[in-house]
Amino acid sequence: MRVAALFSGCGGLDLGFEKAGYEIIWANDYDKYAVNTYNLNMKTPAICADINNLNLNEIPPHDVLIGGFPCQPFSMMGHEEGFNDSRGTLFFRVMEIVDNQKKRGCPPQVIVLENVRNLMTHDKGRTFSRINEELNGRGYKVYAKLLNSADYGVPQTRNRVFMVCFLDSKIAYEFPAAMPLKTTLQDILEKKVDEKYFLSEKIKKTILSDGSGNYFAKSETDLRIARPLTATMGKMHRACQDNYVTQNGRLRRLTPRECARLQGFPDTFKFEVSDAQAYKQFGNAVTVSVSYAIAKSIKEKVESNND
Ligand SMILES: C[S@@+](CC[C@H](N)C(=O)[O-])C[C@H]1O[C@@H](n2cnc3c(N)ncnc32)[C@H](O)[C@@H]1O
Repeated sequence: MRVAALFSGCGGLDLGFEKAGYEIIWANDYDKYAVNTYNLNMKTPAICADINNLNLNEIPPHDVLIGGFPCQPFSMMGHEEGFNDSRGTLFFRVMEIVDNQKKRGCPPQVIVLENVRNLMTHDKGRTFSRINEELNGRGYKVYAKLLNSADYGVPQTRNRVFMVCFLDSKIAYEFPAAMPLKTTLQDILEKKVDEKYFLSEKIKKTILSDGSGNYFAKSETDLRIARPLTATMGKMHRACQDNYVTQNGRLRRLTPRECARLQGFPDTFKFEVSDAQAYKQFGNAVTVSVSYAIAKSIKEKVESNND
């Protein structure tokens, strides 16, 4: 099945689909550093451009449209402005793409969307209802579920909402079942890392303090299952928000490679960007093993439906 990928980032979501046997025929992101990483690893290079400026006729016909539309407006850390924030309206750009494909006689058979968990509760559920209505109105039957990456083979608590939408209403979809976790954060650590990842005594005190006021959270290091990786972890937050580990009796932050592992990327996955960009890309990514499980389950359903 041919896939067009929107907001492809460094390729977490896309890699899961590729691994499950899909062919990514078109991908796009406007972040040149993310596109650089994507193009080092994926078979078809992504186009670096703002999706709002692209001529939609350039997107080739495809069977599956995938994308985690930017989540800042829906995230608890953002301002919760939903569709009033221009980034929130990128969902409608996705709908324009679907409409354009339909006009050309080739609407995608499946749409897979990913977002942060509070997309479901934002504006008392109205945002999510609206998204569902838009998809239903175009003939798609929508299945949505919150999945935790820790249930799909990686030691990271990461809850994301996935929407799997089928044009064929005969398909009865079920999300892939959760699996028992067999690894811990300690299992994925690199044995020897550069000195720069270790915390100085001076910064340690700040890093180890609890959250305060409205953001109270207990400071904890050496978790067995990592906290959710974030796009801003390059800036170093306190230990109640980021992941810190003890190695040889000293506290350190995770390396970009360890973040890649926590997101299910294989060690063959290359990146040639600064640490700050690498943290951002892996913090933004969809966990590859979650994407793979979803991609595989969709393929099985579609194929058995075609028999
Ligand atoms: C949550 S990340 C996607 C991560 C990706 N799905 C993965 O699994 O690695 C959202 C992406 O949307 C991109 N983006 C945001 N606004 C965009 C726009 N107007 N046009 C193109 N890409 C955009 C960002 O650069 C970012 O890489």
